Amino acid sequence: MKRRAAITGFPVAHSRSPLIHGHWLAEHGIEGSYEKIAVPPDAAQAFYGDFRESGLVGCNVTVPNKEVAAAACDELDDAARAMGAANTLWLDDAGRLIGANTDGLGFLGNLDQTLPGWDNGLSHAVVLGAGGAARAVIWALLSRGVKTVVIVNRTYQKAADLQVRFGADSIARHWEDLEELLGKTGMLVNTTSLGMSGQPPLEIDLRNLPESAIVTDLVYVPLETPLLARARARGNPVADGLGMLMHQAVPAFERWFGVRPRVTEELRALVLADLGRAP
Ligand code: ATR
Repeated sequence: MKRRAAITGFPVAHSRSPLIHGHWLAEHGIEGSYEKIAVPPDAAQAFYGDFRESGLVGCNVTVPNKEVAAAACDELDDAARAMGAANTLWLDDAGRLIGANTDGLGFLGNLDQTLPGWDNGLSHAVVLGAGGAARAVIWALLSRGVKTVVIVNRTYQKAADLQVRFGADSIARHWEDLEELLGKTGMLVNTTSLGMSGQPPLEIDLRNLPESAIVTDLVYVPLETPLLARARARGNPVADGLGMLMHQAVPAFERWFGVRPRVTEELRALVLADLGRAP
């Protein structure tokens, strides 16, 4: 029987997930499909609660449904539990709905592929932002054994809330402290929307940042954000945000279709071309 999966959320029209999973289905000659299903917030509880009725083997979940989907699951993996949000669902053999969050794994998978050994001796990281993407990054860094993850956000209270969620190895600090904090960090991650096309620029002084510190941006439109361009110019190792998008899809595809796919230059070119057509 044809195995069907889908991206669900609201809106889903601009999702690149069908392109990524469609590429892998064709590459591996799998008889399956990956669809787009718009699930507005007022329909979300019913959709995930009655997931068995959908005819899908599983689905991805995007904003604003990740929390509702997690709550509808019979079981969550460690990441989804820690984040309180699920982006990947599937039915197990007993028909129970299982939820995972692969965003953090995508963040790690991208760095492992583009900057191998990036986490050797990394003990301190600064994460800008305190939204859903920041949760995934904080979870990922702590799961890799980074000892101190400093969360810096415009709205301090949201950073403080994440400190409570993630515990003593995460520390909330004020935006005004950022430039001083950069002096002792081995990694800077932007999870805010600053620097994205159409958004205000991310204006921070990198002067104090050690040249060995890794700089990565979750924004991928433009692919080389002004932050990454400045970091690269002063010699910092950098990783762009497109890799996380592709790598978060890997464990989901494997779960639904039984093959672990690879993130290749060919896939990257395909997604980039699509972004160029309709950003
Ligand atoms: P996501 O799920 O992608 O993380 P989000 O939950 O909307 O998206 O979070 C957006 C992040 O970008 C937040 O940390 C937000 O800061 P606030 O919590 O203070 O809103 C940050 N952000 C957005 N616009 C910003 C701006 N102009 N200056 C500073 N931070 C900004």
